[in-house]
Amino acid sequence: MRRIHLAAALLVLLPLAASAAGGKAAAKAPAAPPAPPNITAAMAKGGCKAFAALVAASPDAYSTFQSAVDGGVTAFCPTDDAMKSFMPKYKNLTADGKASLLLFHAVPVYFSLRGLKSNNGVMNTLATDGSAKNYNFTVQNEGDQVTIKTDAYDDAARVKNTVYDKDPIAIYALDTVLEPVELFEPVEAPAPAPAPVADAPKASMSKKASHRHVADAPGPAGDDAPPAD
Ligand SMILES: *[C@@H]1O[C@H](CO)[C@@H](O)[C@H](O)[C@H]1NC(C)=O
Ligand SMILES: *[C@@H]1O[C@H](CO)[C@@H](O)[C@H](O)[C@H]1NC(C)=O
Ligand SMILES: *[C@@H]1O[C@H](CO)[C@@H](O)[C@H](O)[C@H]1NC(C)=O
Repeated sequence: MRRIHLAAALLVLLPLAASAAGGKAAAKAPAAPPAPPNITAAMAKGGCKAFAALVAASPDAYSTFQSAVDGGVTAFCPTDDAMKSFMPKYKNLTADGKASLLLFHAVPVYFSLRGLKSNNGVMNTLATDGSAKNYNFTVQNEGDQVTIKTDAYDDAARVKNTVYDKDPIAIYALDTVLEPVELFEPVEAPAPAPAPVADAPKASMSKKASHRHVADAPGPAGDDAPPAD
């Protein structure tokens, strides 16, 4: 009897599993809520392969993106061209900085293009964490063009096209990577203190020590000039 039940159970379960995966012939199964689309796959399909790959490779960023989907999310993915020129700067960031940069490219609200156009102003992003980490940017219309601006950069990024738009997810392609002022504002980095001359025996520690928290701003140190490009 037991074996028969098992077999029967398998007969029921297998088609269910198959239909859940394929989405076809699911007529008899109780309608499960449709799985949210894979947000990185959608980005990749829309010309943001490089950005999507970075998100997929960052467990922090990926899980935050995916879990934001339920409450609504609008993501701005830089095109592959935009990412290409940005990669040297990206590689310069710490792991935390990388995750923040990726999360900076989405807001936890769904905006259709029309909604975006009528909601100009400062927006918090998925990288925002209280007032300690503002990570905000400013959405502005220029004519019919939606632009996004940060204080780290004079030029605004432009929304090029809609990659995906189905409530609660919208994805727009951007022609430029957004640089949060938290990561890219040129700061007057204090000159590194000269190593005390008498401290020779501790020299072997310096490698380890220099590994800890380097400055928050990996951008070019020095004066207030905007990052050259
Ligand atoms: C989503 O797509 C990415 C590729 O962009 C892939 O690496 C990942 O495994 C996919 N995740 C799921 C849950 O299918
Ligand atoms: C990477 O960081 C180094 C050290 O802070 C800096 O000299 C260099 O200009 C940076 N490179 C880029 C592409 O930002
Ligand atoms: C946006 O962030 C900046 C710092 O990056 C902060 O000074 C400003 O108050 C923030 N604006 C809002 C509306 O949160």
